[in-house]
Amino acid sequence: MPTPSHYKNRRAEFLDSIDSPVLLMAGGWISRNYPANWNPFRADSTFQFFFAEPEPNSGALFDPKDGSVTLFLDERTAEDALWHGPVPSFADMKKAHGVTAVMKRADLAKEVQKKAGKRKVRTVAIADPRATAEAIAITGEELDFRTPAKAGDKDLLLTIGKLRNHKVADEVAEIRLAAAVTREAFTVAMARTRPGIYEQELAGHVEGVFARHGCVPAYNTILSVRGEVLHNHAHGNLMLETDVVLLDAGAERKSGYCADVTRAWPVGGHFSPEAADVYDTVLAAEKAAIAAIKPGVRYRDVHRLACRVLADGLVGMGLLKGDPEELVEKGAHAAFFPHGIGHLLGLDVHDTKTYGDLISYAPGRTRSEQFGTAYLRLDLDLQPGMCVTIEPGIYFVPAILREPKFKKLWKGMVDFAKAEQFLTMNSLRGFGGIRIEDDVLCTDGGHEVLTAAVPKERVAVEALVGSAGL
Ligand code: GLY
Ligand code: MN
Ligand code: MN
Repeated sequence: MPTPSHYKNRRAEFLDSIDSPVLLMAGGWISRNYPANWNPFRADSTFQFFFAEPEPNSGALFDPKDGSVTLFLDERTAEDALWHGPVPSFADMKKAHGVTAVMKRADLAKEVQKKAGKRKVRTVAIADPRATAEAIAITGEELDFRTPAKAGDKDLLLTIGKLRNHKVADEVAEIRLAAAVTREAFTVAMARTRPGIYEQELAGHVEGVFARHGCVPAYNTILSVRGEVLHNHAHGNLMLETDVVLLDAGAERKSGYCADVTRAWPVGGHFSPEAADVYDTVLAAEKAAIAAIKPGVRYRDVHRLACRVLADGLVGMGLLKGDPEELVEKGAHAAFFPHGIGHLLGLDVHDTKTYGDLISYAPGRTRSEQFGTAYLRLDLDLQPGMCVTIEPGIYFVPAILREPKFKKLWKGMVDFAKAEQFLTMNSLRGFGGIRIEDDVLCTDGGHEVLTAAVPKERVAVEALVGSAGL
């Protein structure tokens, strides 16, 4: 867990960069089916950015006028202690967090109004609708969590984004720890892979490793022999010897910081010649993109570089036809690589995406309209302290490769007959997809791959598959 002084420093930086009071909400328990049966609690990421292990239902008022931070917590009752165990007193919490004051949550509206007086109070929308509604009632702002353009005042969001985009040592240490747990989960999944088991058995091992380390999945685990379904959360397929399984998973620590890793491996322990070609091309693209990361480089150019390496390989495999540079220019690589090269990572797996592209696209930059690149989630010039993912892939998606609209768009550039061979190989199950994803910190000197310990060389991956035995 980051140290108390880490959080105190982050709050001080925030207070220095705002000129009017800001109310932040952690959010509360969200019911799973009936009111008293709750989902696991996860505080809003911006709240969690400023406070260690926030309590459900907490709120905080930041006042730049006197540099104060007031934390609002639910009153401690004997009944709560009976059902959920005792919690530290307000005095203990004030000391532990190093805040100016701790007050009763029930008094939040009254105390915020008292402290702010006539000054405007700003807030941000969070996933918990009740907490957002309460913050709206207090601040009079028009906010909607589901509409990024209404996530909050633009200047406030940019201030938060600037802080959250620059990971400091304690945050990087947390991501490293999440990466270590994620590495273990991947190696266990590879080692326990064998034909004849269901995907869910491996998914269980992955999430079991997370749980054993006190972590949760940072997002719904993607584990499937249908790697071409980019966010496939169903784990019901029986795995065949000839399948390639794709795992995209990341542990999230109690601090909220997470990893986001993807690997793919052959269920039977050996890639077919076609799968090996695809794997090597994806890995070459991933390595080239990672090698390009350094301060000042535009992330969209990293995407473009990866597209170019993928196009080279796809031409070599006979799946694309023509000059690779021109194919990328025309967007034909997206027939097989239909998404962006990655995104910011931190407290959210797609860090700060609650605020849409405001934080992750530089001013004046907008999304491409070209299929594929339109899904690029990040277009900033990289700076030291930014943590991003690099995740190229090659997929054989029937819905794309058999779609008349796309056949027309990429006529003469995509060899659809050759692609059809991939769609029907493996006893008509098709090839699926291969993605390789790592988490990369931009540093003063270039970059560091925080997830480098997760095996990815083809031979190393093959050697691990099935090594746990029966
Ligand atoms: N895990 C989702 C992603 O890689 O973006
Ligand atoms: Mn990712
Ligand atoms: Mn991922």
